[in-house]
Amino acid sequence: MRAVDIIADKRDGKELTGEELGFLIGGYTAGQIPDYQISAWAMAVFFRGMTSAETAALTRVMLGSGAVIDLSGIPGPFIDKHSTGGVGDKTSLILAPLAAALGIRDPMMSGRALGHTGGTLDKLESIPGFRTNLSVGEFRSILAKDGFAMTGQTREVVPADRLLYALRDVTGTVESIPLITASILAKKAAEGAEGLVFDVKYGSGAFMKEASQGEKLARSLADTGAAMGRRIIALLTGMDEPLGNMVGNFLEVEESLDCLEGAGVRGRPGPEDLMEVTLELGARMAVLGGKAKDAAGGRALCEDCIAGGRPRELFLRNVKSQGGDPVKLLELRGNWRSPVGAEIRVPPGAGESAKNGVSGAPLYIRRIDAWKVGNAAVALGVGRNRTEDPVSPTAGIQFHRKRGAPVKAGDPVMTVWSATEEGLAAALPRLEAAVEYGAEPPSPQKLVLKEITAGPAAAGPDASTGPAEGGR
Ligand code: URA
Repeated sequence: MRAVDIIADKRDGKELTGEELGFLIGGYTAGQIPDYQISAWAMAVFFRGMTSAETAALTRVMLGSGAVIDLSGIPGPFIDKHSTGGVGDKTSLILAPLAAALGIRDPMMSGRALGHTGGTLDKLESIPGFRTNLSVGEFRSILAKDGFAMTGQTREVVPADRLLYALRDVTGTVESIPLITASILAKKAAEGAEGLVFDVKYGSGAFMKEASQGEKLARSLADTGAAMGRRIIALLTGMDEPLGNMVGNFLEVEESLDCLEGAGVRGRPGPEDLMEVTLELGARMAVLGGKAKDAAGGRALCEDCIAGGRPRELFLRNVKSQGGDPVKLLELRGNWRSPVGAEIRVPPGAGESAKNGVSGAPLYIRRIDAWKVGNAAVALGVGRNRTEDPVSPTAGIQFHRKRGAPVKAGDPVMTVWSATEEGLAAALPRLEAAVEYGAEPPSPQKLVLKEITAGPAAAGPDASTGPAEGGR
């Protein structure tokens, strides 16, 4: 076989065999096929797509590029959730300890910032000392002890995704349904989860801009996951506006801690949009884990559990288990920020055309475009332009007002922190352009649009082997 022939076949729209995909991905992982050939192949896949058989074969080949984590000897149920990527999306940081407190074990293998979207690993690593490059042995023992463990693709586990993910990020080949499906499912199959909840995002800040594309991705994940014997629930959720009030690595850790302390839950002040999505995902994790019989019951369970404080305790315990310093984290909370900062306020004359010259007419934020915010965040240092770029733990954006808020000229909309002066200069115009004002409030938006399920039936309540050690 020759890589060039396989690339040309995909370019011409042919279906590749598992053997061909194995040759290509195996050769790449072994360092025998260069980046430029895999980039060309990924671009051909981007334009030509893949059949469902090809997508499943690619997932299996990527999974087979490394070890599968053996969870035998650790009591389950093992349920994980994965997001297809968004801006301000920190639900994993809240859900993993929440699931653990419900008696579900969450073996979580996540990714880094990709394109304009943030990465769970980068957020966690902003906690001083926190390690996400766990060996398989460390992953197992932390999972057994804390009820969840959070790691990245390594040289041992799904090494093909570690390479391909970084390559796609810089070659314009992220937004491909089969490549996203294989990337996510290979990680999820390797970590040993039996049931998976997918948060499939659509909207300006997602890789899938339209709900119809998001639904296709959700179906691809559900069908491929079910073909691999996993129970799947996929929620299609909106990503037109950043989720929550913070975008940035340490800022998002702080916001997650706030939510673990009850912010935004049951009418308490806080990021309601973030907690709406988090609780809906948590509810499905509870259902798949056999802790609730339906989503409504699962949601109530999650809300009670947060109110009881156990998820926060488990989060801080896991910080310590993964090498981080929980005392330092709490000390830095609220005051660790990049030195270069600015505030964006409602400009004089904002929404003037919409007000039809009527001075004193009401003014609302109609939209904060997540795509523009995500790109500005990369300029600030939150994400990266090149694989090898470091990210800043303390750069980011805090929103003081979001979609639907009534405003007047001079009101603060966001505070911005940057790793560099140049970063701030590049980000500010993008952030100013991200906010749209108007004389009418925007119509209410449903954050969870659709639910798609697949795979063997979920277990009933209490069908699990009981609470995880470290659980309730
Ligand atoms: N998340 C992943 O893990 N992989 C992708 O390709 C996109 C989002």
